[in-house]
Amino acid sequence: MVLWKGRFSKELNHEVNAFNSSLSFDHRMYKQDIRGSLAHAKMLCKQSIIEEKDYEEIVEGLNAILKEIEEGTLLFDPEAEDIHMFVESELTKRYPVAGKKLHTGRSRNDQVALDLRLYAHDEILEIKKMLVNLIHTLTDLAEHNLDTIMPGYTHLQRAQPITFAHHLMAYASMFLRDIDRLEDVDKRLYVSPLGSGALATTTYPLDRPFVAEELGMYDIMYNSLDGVSDRDYAIELSSALATIMMHLSRFSEEVILWCSWEFKFIDLDDAYATGSSIMPQKKNPDIAELVRGKSARVIGDVNTLLTMMKGLPLAYNKDMQEDKEALFDAIDEVKLCLPVFTDMMATITVHKDKMRDAAARGFINATDCADYLTKKGMPFRDAYKITGELVRYCIEHGETLETLPLDVYTGYTDMFGEDVYQAISLETCLNNRAVVGGPSPKIEMENIHRINQKVSGYCD
Ligand code: ARG
Repeated sequence: MVLWKGRFSKELNHEVNAFNSSLSFDHRMYKQDIRGSLAHAKMLCKQSIIEEKDYEEIVEGLNAILKEIEEGTLLFDPEAEDIHMFVESELTKRYPVAGKKLHTGRSRNDQVALDLRLYAHDEILEIKKMLVNLIHTLTDLAEHNLDTIMPGYTHLQRAQPITFAHHLMAYASMFLRDIDRLEDVDKRLYVSPLGSGALATTTYPLDRPFVAEELGMYDIMYNSLDGVSDRDYAIELSSALATIMMHLSRFSEEVILWCSWEFKFIDLDDAYATGSSIMPQKKNPDIAELVRGKSARVIGDVNTLLTMMKGLPLAYNKDMQEDKEALFDAIDEVKLCLPVFTDMMATITVHKDKMRDAAARGFINATDCADYLTKKGMPFRDAYKITGELVRYCIEHGETLETLPLDVYTGYTDMFGEDVYQAISLETCLNNRAVVGGPSPKIEMENIHRINQKVSGYCD
């Protein structure tokens, strides 16, 4: 049923109706649409704009519609223009008088802005929980790998010794920031535009703060043009989601490398890897690759929203209907990727020996060798130069700093003594990096506690 019929002398062309309709994607906001309408109707009744009896029928009707949609007994009419029209016309079918009063003092422009904010807020809560689960998985894994020495890299070249725990906790820190970012977006997002009307409010004595409070929102929006045409929240949220995907994608890239025979630092559980249709030996990290691939479309969604908004004059324009598919896609992809990635990580096998082997080659204790000389009084630049020469000697003679005889060391400077071997052992290199933020197991454990504590606060 088209509710805006009065002005028109012809039925809408069938194809135009299909083109114009957003129901195929905005029907997912049915709960939020009904929640918003219930709050609006309550306020209309409180302000004596509608009668008590009408309000009661509206509540009854909307609750029944909600229940029937949920049970699958009420199907969305594909002819409806959008979810707002569908719910209102369904209500009007059931309660012809009261149903027609629901939209008093409201426009679909402020209604859709409200619904999308309610929807986004609900999804933020879900996504936060998923991030908390991922962080817990990472802190658990880190606790089991506090002394699993591996090379830390710069330029993908072995650089200095760290632990697998330290590497995992770097990602835990990123996901913690992601939670923070979502909470920050929510502060600006969860405010009520309802009462902005089509663009210039209304002449009815609406109580806007009452509606916001009824919905548990933090505040109302204070300019009606902005109320109906602001989509910053969709852009901010999709950007926070794209950042989550970027983090997952970097992590995926490492998982893919670590699973390769070239690294073999980890193995994926058979349930989280796939085979090849032709090569019998293959075990492919498809999940990680797909997460990395999907990050592209979420980054694309942010671009869609920014580009869609950049040329729009105030206030509402139909272009804005395009906001939903981009935002929904970003939300869907993040919600798809987070749990499967978390489960994949929870079931990996860590090859501590392979990490250790890689750490033992590549001269990742060279900085510590230079620091050894510096601590004995040699200026760092001189110590750096001598260590570089020692590394070259090792490469030419197939040695490592650990296996190099003492007389070769002392040939470069007599500051070297027997204690150099202790100073450059990987364990020493690791344990001595006990600065806050460093990889020493003691410091790492403190960080794990700190993050676990923070995360438990997020669950409340
Ligand atoms: N389906 C529309 C949207 O998603 C709802 C608002 C329509 N408002 C209007 N004046 N045509 O943006």
